[in-house]
Amino acid sequence: MIRIAVIGVGYWGPNFVRIMDELPQVQLVYVCDKEAKRFERLSVLYPHLTFTTDVKGVIEDANVDAVVVATGSDSHYEVGLSCLEHGKHVLIEKPLALNSADAARLVEEAQRRKRVLLVGHLLRYHRGIERLKAYIDEGYLGKILYIYTTRVNLGRIRKEESALWSFATHDVSVVNFLVGMQPELVTATGQSYLRKGVHDVVFVTLYYQGDVMAHLHVSWLDPHKIRKITIVGDKRMAVLDDMETTEKLRIYDKGVDFTPSYGDYAESLSVRIGDIYIPKIDMVEPLKVECQHFLDCIEKGAKPLTDGQHGLQVLRVLEAAEKSLNENGQAVRVEV
Ligand SMILES: NC(=O)c1ccc[n+]([C@@H]2O[C@H](COP(=O)([O-])OP(=O)(O)OC[C@H]3O[C@@H](n4cnc5c(N)ncnc54)[C@H](O)[C@@H]3O)[C@@H](O)[C@H]2O)c1
Repeated sequence: MIRIAVIGVGYWGPNFVRIMDELPQVQLVYVCDKEAKRFERLSVLYPHLTFTTDVKGVIEDANVDAVVVATGSDSHYEVGLSCLEHGKHVLIEKPLALNSADAARLVEEAQRRKRVLLVGHLLRYHRGIERLKAYIDEGYLGKILYIYTTRVNLGRIRKEESALWSFATHDVSVVNFLVGMQPELVTATGQSYLRKGVHDVVFVTLYYQGDVMAHLHVSWLDPHKIRKITIVGDKRMAVLDDMETTEKLRIYDKGVDFTPSYGDYAESLSVRIGDIYIPKIDMVEPLKVECQHFLDCIEKGAKPLTDGQHGLQVLRVLEAAEKSLNENGQAVRVEV
């Protein structure tokens, strides 16, 4: 049995409580939040669990093997570090921290203590993303030319982090995974309409080696709820629409073919519009896959798919984007 505590049960944390409570190899020993009012609903749903506001007591309890940190991102560093220092394995929500120096310190502490540090980059545990990656790796889409993602909706408006840090964290993690590298350059423009200094809408462009480009549109001030990734390869194109309940992924046999001719270059190009293929994907809730992976890593001493280093790489991109935002969209090199 792995003895788990969940710290932070505001909007997102209760999902961890639900999943951890169901997993057979878990003993959920504490549900913890600094605000007791968070327990009102949860204690009715889970009367058999122990609820506490004593964060320090939970972290210091030798009967806790691992902690899920689902507090607001401004406390990830402080709570996460304290857990690691007390020898706990830690699953920490994204973003790992609010700057790369703090994130690097968490990575170092996890390595030093030989503890598992998993960052909640949820989409890495999404079956549709996994399938997309498999198509890319086997060359089904051809060379990836460019990718664009849209992650917009109305609310939740946060104050401790901008839409860039709250939403684009997901997209940077996914696009890096799909193209298999870290971008070299970043540009970003955006606006803070609702609260000074906290961007509500951001447009980010990532430039990778080999002329691969990705554009991310994130906003919590938008009439639509869209979660979409479009990938344009030189053989095929793919769209993953996470708002679809069943047919999430579509592969378009579309492209532009080049047939050498004696005419000019444009005349040698012909547009190809072929079939649309919708693979069957057996979806499992990504958060459940993520939690199971965390437990497997603890049991086997394995490195998580989204380990601290992955979380740190994502933060380096976000920091470059933030710098670009503050410099009116100037291109900023991503720190290696
Ligand atoms: N992976 C995803 O798809 C996803 C979705 C939503 C939120 N999140 C992430 O989950 C985290 C939490 O987001 P949320 O929307 O639930 O925020 P929230 O503000 O609704 O909840 C945070 C909770 O943490 C508690 N808290 C804060 N500091 C604490 C501390 N030091 N000790 C104990 N409790 C503390 C607060 O009282 C609150 O109840 C954020 O990092 C967010 O980015 C991830």
